[in-house]
Amino acid sequence: MHRLESAMRLGCCYFPEHWPQDIWAEDARRMKEAGLSLVRIGEFAWSRIEPEPGRFDWGWLDRAIDALHGAGLEVMLCTPTATPPKWLVDRMPDMIALDAAGRPRGFGSRRHYCFSHAGYAQEAARITRAVAGRYGDHPAVVSWQTDNEYGCHDTVESFSPAARDAFRAWCGARYGSVDALNEAWGNVFWSMEYRSFDEIELPNLTVTEANPAHWLAFRRFSSDQVMAFNAAQVEILRELSPGRDVTHNAMGFFTQFDHHDLGAQLDVITWDSYPLGFLDVFPFSPQDKLAYARQGHPDIAAFHHDLYRGCTEGGRWGVIEQQPGPVNWAHHNPAPLPGMVRLWTMEAMAHGAEVVSYFRWRQFPKAQEQMHAGLLRPDSEAAPGLGEATQAARDISALGEIGGSVKQVALLFSYDSEWVTLTQPQGRGCSALWAAFSAYSALRQMGLNVDIVRPGTPLDGYAMAVVPCLPIVSDAALASLEAFEGQVVIGPRSGSRDEDFAIPDGLAPGKLRTVFEGRVALSETLPPGVEHAGEGWVVTRWLDRIESEAESELAACDGTVACWKSGRVRYCAGWMEGSLAAEVLGRATRDAGLETIDLPEGMRLRRTANHCFAFNYSAEGRELPAEVSGEAVIGSRVLEPAGYAALRLSSH
Ligand code: GAL
Repeated sequence: MHRLESAMRLGCCYFPEHWPQDIWAEDARRMKEAGLSLVRIGEFAWSRIEPEPGRFDWGWLDRAIDALHGAGLEVMLCTPTATPPKWLVDRMPDMIALDAAGRPRGFGSRRHYCFSHAGYAQEAARITRAVAGRYGDHPAVVSWQTDNEYGCHDTVESFSPAARDAFRAWCGARYGSVDALNEAWGNVFWSMEYRSFDEIELPNLTVTEANPAHWLAFRRFSSDQVMAFNAAQVEILRELSPGRDVTHNAMGFFTQFDHHDLGAQLDVITWDSYPLGFLDVFPFSPQDKLAYARQGHPDIAAFHHDLYRGCTEGGRWGVIEQQPGPVNWAHHNPAPLPGMVRLWTMEAMAHGAEVVSYFRWRQFPKAQEQMHAGLLRPDSEAAPGLGEATQAARDISALGEIGGSVKQVALLFSYDSEWVTLTQPQGRGCSALWAAFSAYSALRQMGLNVDIVRPGTPLDGYAMAVVPCLPIVSDAALASLEAFEGQVVIGPRSGSRDEDFAIPDGLAPGKLRTVFEGRVALSETLPPGVEHAGEGWVVTRWLDRIESEAESELAACDGTVACWKSGRVRYCAGWMEGSLAAEVLGRATRDAGLETIDLPEGMRLRRTANHCFAFNYSAEGRELPAEVSGEAVIGSRVLEPAGYAALRLSSH
């Protein structure tokens, strides 16, 4: 992908190996005609590229790339390492990952390899070198994708002997001596002390829960293994295909490896957006699942756009797989409301995407995804998504330069936060990721732009910083919050753990006590229905009882303090969700001088330097509130279900 200053480009994921060669040129022509310009290929094609060990068949791939090139399309080529072929698995059976129950994750689908297996790492490097050597300087190949969706189907963690040995070495490098590890993990508890690193097992198959410090270390290690695997490919691609962008496709609501670390290795991070599937399989309320069944919850796509934008240094990101119709993998797989494919596309543009590419060009009538829609039906007739993609292509050229993002609120999220809350939730649903989503959603319902940033990112230019749940506070995170002069909202559990999962000296919020002077004397989690209600808000799920000289800003009818305030800093003592999040964040936005709008149900806004975009996720028509100014250049102030409008701001 060349960085385009002005316009987002559209593309699709294509599998030439699934179709007869004589239709490739016509496929390419139709892609071009629809307004697509980038085609991603090759991520699962190892068995066709190297049908026998060491025997490469490049002919078909040469012709496929040439067919696309001939139609004026550019190519994102992938390394095929997500699907090692059968002959490779048979030669190297211990490259297979083991699940937490110790069972092999066998051949016959995909992602069956263990990230720690040295032999497979060599094979992955070998095939990467072969593909990059062949096509690295092909004029059509403008970018590379490494592998495909690291971690899909729960594959980051492997409990194999290879992983165990690598984990021991990782622990040795991190702690230096086994005594230091015993001390840091508190292994004196239950006589868990080790005499050497070689005695350490993986944290699965224990009688009851393993030490949370052990789990945290294993999650960090597993993330590092993914990073090492990716880095090896990136290095080869940079050597053999210089000047091309390297990307990887991340997933939705997925935290098993650190995407900030991944983004640091890439030029562009992309992600795979399946809003209807995500609504169905993730813990949204039954009401939301019903109201948004054909649209997806209004914050699902935007949350990930704003999260992944913060993962690369240059803020470069895109959507490389966009749902074009029903998928096949959720509990229920409805068709999107007419208009949604166009809306999702344009919303990505409003958030700054470089590309939106639809998955997939044509529905494949066989194998696992035969029920997954494409832009074309299996009989090559247009599916509904194609017309919407074509319309989106027209909208993009009509809009022209939309300008960069407008900074309003920074929301801090780190991957190790989720590892802490996953390892030790303490109460059902207490997840740092979902706290981030809830706070994000509350802010977006007020019409604000939110950037999700890695803790430690300088906060200049923002009016407000929100820390929904950050148990481990790095020195960099602390320094950026100390230097920040805007409003700060800190949520429960923040600063509650040191690097190795211990409660910090002086109690939570630990290091953050230089930002908020107080001490968490006790934390409790609340079963459903056990609530502390105030005026128009209620504390649910989690409550930190705090000793502080700060002002008690919100107290429930029973006296429970739900929010503390000291100068520009608030500490929200209840879980940051629902009415409490809205109340606390609403107060902070007023103090920050941010203009908020109470948006109608299902409507969201996104402001860029030149435009304000409005998106209607509701199944009913919606009128733009009067406070939203600008001249409608696409759509109108009355939005149809699944409709959107682009308003040009008057100063431009
Ligand atoms: C993604 C994956 C694709 C395809 C798609 C189906 O997770 O990268 O290969 O399986 O889902 O929705």
